[in-house]
Amino acid sequence: MSIKILGISAFYHDSAAAVIEDGEIIAAAQEERFTRKKHDPGFPSNAVKFCLRQSGFSLNELDAVIFYDKPLLKFERLMETYYAFAPGGFRSFVSAVPVWIREKLFLKKLIREELAKTGTGDASASLNNSFTGPRPFEALAKEDASGIKLLFTSHHLSHAASAFFPSPFEEAAILTIDGAGEWATASISHGKGNSLRMLKEMKFPHSAGLLYSAFTYYLGFKVNSGEYKLMGLSPYGDPGSDRVKKYGELIRGEMINIKADGSVYLNQEYFKYATGLTMTDNKKWENLLGLPPRAPETELRQEHCDLALAIQRVTEEIVLKMAATAKKITGSDNLCLAGGVALNCVANGKLLRSGIFKDMWLQPAAGDAGGALGGALAAYHIYFGGARKPVSGADKMRGACLGPEFSDLDIRLAARKHKAVSRHFTDLNELCETTADLLAKGSVVGWFQGRMEWGPRALGNRTILGDARDRDMQKRLNLKIKFREGFRPFAPSVLWESAKEYFNITAPSPYMLLTADVLEKRRNPLPPGYHKAGVREKLYFIRSDIPSVTHLDYSPRLQTVHKDTNPRYWTLIEKFRQKTGCGLLVNTSFNVRGEPIVCTPSDAYACFMRTEMDFLVLGDRLFDKKIQPPWRETKDWKEDYGLD
Ligand SMILES: [Fe+2]
Repeated sequence: MSIKILGISAFYHDSAAAVIEDGEIIAAAQEERFTRKKHDPGFPSNAVKFCLRQSGFSLNELDAVIFYDKPLLKFERLMETYYAFAPGGFRSFVSAVPVWIREKLFLKKLIREELAKTGTGDASASLNNSFTGPRPFEALAKEDASGIKLLFTSHHLSHAASAFFPSPFEEAAILTIDGAGEWATASISHGKGNSLRMLKEMKFPHSAGLLYSAFTYYLGFKVNSGEYKLMGLSPYGDPGSDRVKKYGELIRGEMINIKADGSVYLNQEYFKYATGLTMTDNKKWENLLGLPPRAPETELRQEHCDLALAIQRVTEEIVLKMAATAKKITGSDNLCLAGGVALNCVANGKLLRSGIFKDMWLQPAAGDAGGALGGALAAYHIYFGGARKPVSGADKMRGACLGPEFSDLDIRLAARKHKAVSRHFTDLNELCETTADLLAKGSVVGWFQGRMEWGPRALGNRTILGDARDRDMQKRLNLKIKFREGFRPFAPSVLWESAKEYFNITAPSPYMLLTADVLEKRRNPLPPGYHKAGVREKLYFIRSDIPSVTHLDYSPRLQTVHKDTNPRYWTLIEKFRQKTGCGLLVNTSFNVRGEPIVCTPSDAYACFMRTEMDFLVLGDRLFDKKIQPPWRETKDWKEDYGLD
């Protein structure tokens, strides 16, 4: 009899569900894709239903349902923090506690009820509780009872399990870094076969993730989503300037203390996340930095870019030192990485190039969504003692395409609803040839294929594509298609076979979690006075012969595309290469600013019609904007997607 496990993460941000059978990943998806509410923190009813439908399991057939963290421990952390910082924390205490009491302390009951509501089996009758002990790393329930077990694991064990168990390594050091779980904010562990040993942890309120989020907040971006923007802004900083140096010294000297092992002490005089409803003490920051907080959506000035660069460098120092400690205490050649900070692909690229580890693997859903999968894998390998299949050199993520897929009938029904006009292709080569031709002529194409991606990046199944050689493509995509800030960078999807012609790359990056330098020979020399130029001048300087994906530091995050994991996407780029000699395309996620990545054919068609995209490919069908019926909506759709 096989062991079937459902993993759930919820009630913080990026709720998700994942289902596995005997350690094999069958399906995984984030709730936001179904509810169309970005970073949806609610119970992932839709994702659970999808996982069960995809696997063919009913709730009653499951051996366990596992929740990705321990609510009682988190509650203990909140209570102790409020107590320690009293009376300063009173305001956030009164606003947070009712939510906790309602949702989190009664989590067992809530999960049971929510699962029952999904109508996929009688959950209330068969779930048994196995609440685990108070220590974070003695994670899983020990008692055994018949029926489905409801298990709770610790937050960082979920992250660590999501990083190690699907990795291509038989043994590896594991580093998890995020904002905060229950108490832990970072951990180092060692994985071998089906075992995972936690060795070290760093505790709240000292946190590399919350440090980065505090700067995200101070620079006018949203916490838990704008961290990517802060990273994208950092290369606009002037690397040799006195200001960047001064900011770095002030951060290191006053706000934090980075120890030799990478652990970091945050001076709580500057931070309010432990006690207040905001991240930072703005007055103290302004006095220290001589720079007021930036209001959201206001002009980005050089000082803002310089501060972004300073905190990015500090974060890289922390990540590299933590990795060096992980190397020292495990002696492993391999590193697995997860937790929200593992989405910082600039730091990851530097870590890889540092040579601390010979090889590195990152969980594509490195943030809290990934905890659903990690929890399920931890339950299988640690709680049930399930063996890990021999490692074959490839990871077990199936290219991270683990979400729903749609048939040609689904696509035809969606098209009929919108009275949409399409051309059907029966031959994949012909479809890819035609699409490559459109891309080579400068068109922007929405590309919707197969199963939706797991994690925050679009990897060729829910993707908007353009020609990276086109010098106006970045501007066009940002302003007319994504409706987002002009400085935001774009990533290339490059054929693995062509990657070395463009980038200084030694390892594959299938999940777009690493950066690599554009080769020197492709770069244009910087004009005199470049570093003193304004943000706009820097943005529109043509830096290479693939300008739309050459970010200011010449290091785009990139996706290597492999024929065996995504043959359709690979064929399209290969056709483009045959036509143009260029083996890469600009790839940006299929959505507009503030919208979750599209899930269904209808979501994709709506996004296509609302933007200035020229063509849409849904499965085997090509839609030309010029011949579609006029698009009408009764209200302004942008209101549904607040600014992210
Ligand atoms: Fe986390």
